[in-house]
Amino acid sequence: MQLQDVKQVAIIGSGNMGAQIAQLCAQVGGFQVVMTDMSQELVDAGLKRQRDSLQKYFVDKGKMTTDQMKEVLSRIRGTAKLAEGVSKADLIIEAVFENMALKKDIFKQLDAAATPHAILATNTSYLSVTEIASVTKRPEKIAGMHFFNPPAVMKLVEVVRAVLTSPETSGIIFDLAKKLNKEPIYCRDTYGFLANRAATITGVDDAVELMWTHAAPPADIDRAVKLGFNHPMGPLELGDLTGDWAIRVFGEEDRIKELGFEKGHVHPMIRMMVRAGYTGGPGKKGVYDFWKEVLSKW
Ligand SMILES: NC(=O)c1ccc[n+]([C@@H]2O[C@H](COP(=O)([O-])OP(=O)(O)OC[C@H]3O[C@@H](n4cnc5c(N)ncnc54)[C@H](O)[C@@H]3O)[C@@H](O)[C@H]2O)c1
Repeated sequence: MQLQDVKQVAIIGSGNMGAQIAQLCAQVGGFQVVMTDMSQELVDAGLKRQRDSLQKYFVDKGKMTTDQMKEVLSRIRGTAKLAEGVSKADLIIEAVFENMALKKDIFKQLDAAATPHAILATNTSYLSVTEIASVTKRPEKIAGMHFFNPPAVMKLVEVVRAVLTSPETSGIIFDLAKKLNKEPIYCRDTYGFLANRAATITGVDDAVELMWTHAAPPADIDRAVKLGFNHPMGPLELGDLTGDWAIRVFGEEDRIKELGFEKGHVHPMIRMMVRAGYTGGPGKKGVYDFWKEVLSKW
């Protein structure tokens, strides 16, 4: 199979990442797209976010006509029925919650419902693609396709080769990323892949420790990193943007398993913050609010 044989793409999960990846596939890739989630309400919410974003960032800015927007949207179909939704897909991208048990369960269902030629990709940020693939009968057709947040804007896609991923499969994912106007980079299946591993997993713990010990408020720590290293964003504001705080707490066990306790454990402040609802992510409170409302008064 080659990328030109891919006509229909299915996206599992219509949340923050899934809805935008589906939109990219329809808008930039020109594919027929089916998007699924656990309920019709969740699917509809994802479809609405796509409509709103096309209107705000393209139609209102004169980059697209209303008819063109309608055409893009007509290529996206939403359904809460996973098996029916993926039955005709040539390529499936999973973007459900970052939880190994859930992802394995989804991949078992996908393996049973998808056509034998279909490629299955996961947008996991940290988890082992080899372990996810192990529950299927087609591990050679499984790879990671790790977009960055917001996927409509960020250029990087990590193409993760699991132990049994075939060169054909990773090549198609690589070509798909290019077709979506992204800059793909190959990477072996290793905890956190390249960018998260190199830039956030360990470095962010020191940023949190500095804030926890009142060395400086979060805005100054971020400013130091931005001005000192020419980074466009600091590690703390990035965590607030992506909702990485909750992912770090929920993924602690996997991280310790893969990296060892020293690198894998969650800073106690992150655990405390997440328990109190300061998870970061769109519309949610994060580390900047935690400093303002809690820590600076302690
Ligand atoms: N947010 C980020 O910054 C970011 C960046 C890169 C990759 N990722 C990865 O993308 C994936 C999704 O993250 P997100 O931020 O979009 O999360 P999200 O919570 O916004 O969306 C997840 C969606 O999955 C759906 N879902 C859960 N169980 C399901 C099931 N059984 N069947 C169908 N749908 C189901 C949820 O209802 C939800 O709509 C995760 O693996 C995450 O690690 C996230």
